[in-house]
Amino acid sequence: MHREDFLMFENNQNLIYFDNGATTFKPKRVVDKVVDYYTKYTANAHRGDYDISLKVDNEYEEAREVVRHFINAKSSKEIIFTKGTTESMNMIVFSFMKYYLHKGDEILITKAEHASNVLPWFELEKELGVSVKYIPLTSEYKVTLDNLKNVVTEKTKVISLAHVTNVIGDIRPIKEITEFAHDNNILVVIDGAQSVPHLKTDVEDLDIDFLAFSGHKMLGPTGVGVLYAKEKYLEKFRPFNYGGGMNSRFESTKEIEYKELPLRLEAGTENIAGVLGLKEAILYLESIGIENIHKHEQELREYLIKRLKEVSNITVYNENSEAGIVVFNIENIFAEDTSRFLNHYGICIRAGNHCTKMVKDEIKVKNTCRISLYLYNTKEEIDKLIEVLKENNKIYDIIL
Ligand SMILES: Cc1ncc(COP(=O)(O)O)c(C=O)c1O
Repeated sequence: MHREDFLMFENNQNLIYFDNGATTFKPKRVVDKVVDYYTKYTANAHRGDYDISLKVDNEYEEAREVVRHFINAKSSKEIIFTKGTTESMNMIVFSFMKYYLHKGDEILITKAEHASNVLPWFELEKELGVSVKYIPLTSEYKVTLDNLKNVVTEKTKVISLAHVTNVIGDIRPIKEITEFAHDNNILVVIDGAQSVPHLKTDVEDLDIDFLAFSGHKMLGPTGVGVLYAKEKYLEKFRPFNYGGGMNSRFESTKEIEYKELPLRLEAGTENIAGVLGLKEAILYLESIGIENIHKHEQELREYLIKRLKEVSNITVYNENSEAGIVVFNIENIFAEDTSRFLNHYGICIRAGNHCTKMVKDEIKVKNTCRISLYLYNTKEEIDKLIEVLKENNKIYDIIL
C-alpha cells in the first residue's frame, strides 16, 4: 500500500521492514515538511512578530488542531506536544497523579505493559506509598473486564493500560473498561503508542481520561509526541518544565503568572519541525483512512500466521491476538540469532524483550522475535520471510 510515497524503499530496494512497532518510515510529504521548515521559514514559535515567525505560529497551532481532530478531543487545549509516549506517561504520573493520589491508593496495570507504563508507576509507589497491582491475563494474555473486576477494590484509583500491547498485540476492550472504571470513580490512562497509529482512537467515544502517543510510530518524525487529557484534569497538571513560553509574567518580587493551557505545559522551545512533520503524518494517514490501514494489517496478520505454520520448528505466542504484531521463536535458537539471520537477507525484525520485561512471567520466555506490520508491508514480503525462515537449519552457518 502506497510504497511509492516512502523514500526508504526507493533508497533500499530489497529491504523488508517488519519493525514498525519500534518506529516507522516517513512518507515524502513528512520529510518535505521538515526540510521546508528548516530551509524556507525557520523561526521560533509563539515568540516573534515577523512574517516567518507568524507562519510558524499558525502552522504549529494548526498541527494541534489536526491532532485534536484525529483523536476527536473536545478542545485543542487538551493537546500537549511532548517528546513522545514516554514523556507523556511521565507527565501524567509526575505532573498529575503524584498530587491526585494518596498513600494506599491502588493503580492497576498488567505484566504486558511497556516500561513507560510501568516504571513511572513503580517510582510513584516508592515516593508516595501507592500500590501498583496487576490485572491477571487470560490464557491468551488478554485483559477482560471480568479479570479486571476481580482485582478492583475500593482503593483502586487508576487503571493504566496500553490500548494495544507491543508484544502480545492484543486490542484491549477500552470502552468497556472506561465505562466500568468511571462508574467506580477510577481514572483511565491509555498508552496509545501502538494503537493510535493503527486504530481509530476516538477519545470521546472511548471516554479516555489520559492518552499518550508518539509521532515516530505513526509516520511522523522522532522526538515528538502527544499528551491528551480531559481539560478538567489537564488544568490541574503542574508544569513538568518551567521556563520560557509558559509564563505571562514574573517579577523580582517572585510574583509569577503562568499561561493558560496548552502553552503552560510546553515550556522552552518545542520540537517545531517534529510538530509540523507530525501534522503532515496525520493528514497523510487520514488521506488513506485509518480503518483501511487497520484492515490491511489484519489481512496481512492472518496471512502471516497461516504461512508461519509452514515453518515446522516455530512457536507463535500470540496467534489469537488482533493487531499487526506477531511474536515467535524458532526452537532452540536464541531470538537475537534469528534476527541476525533474517538481517542477512535484508529482513528487519525486532528480537529481545521489547522493553516489556515483565511479560516473561506470562509467556514463560524471556526473548522473542517480533514482526510488527504497517500499511506499506505486503504479502510478497511475508512470502520472502517464510522462504528464509524455512531455511533456519542453516542459521549458524550464516551468522557465525
Ligand atoms: C506500548 C508502548 N508504549 C510506550 C512506548 C514508548 O514509546 P517512545 O519510545 O516513543 O516514547 C512504546 C515504544 O515501543 C510502546 O510500544
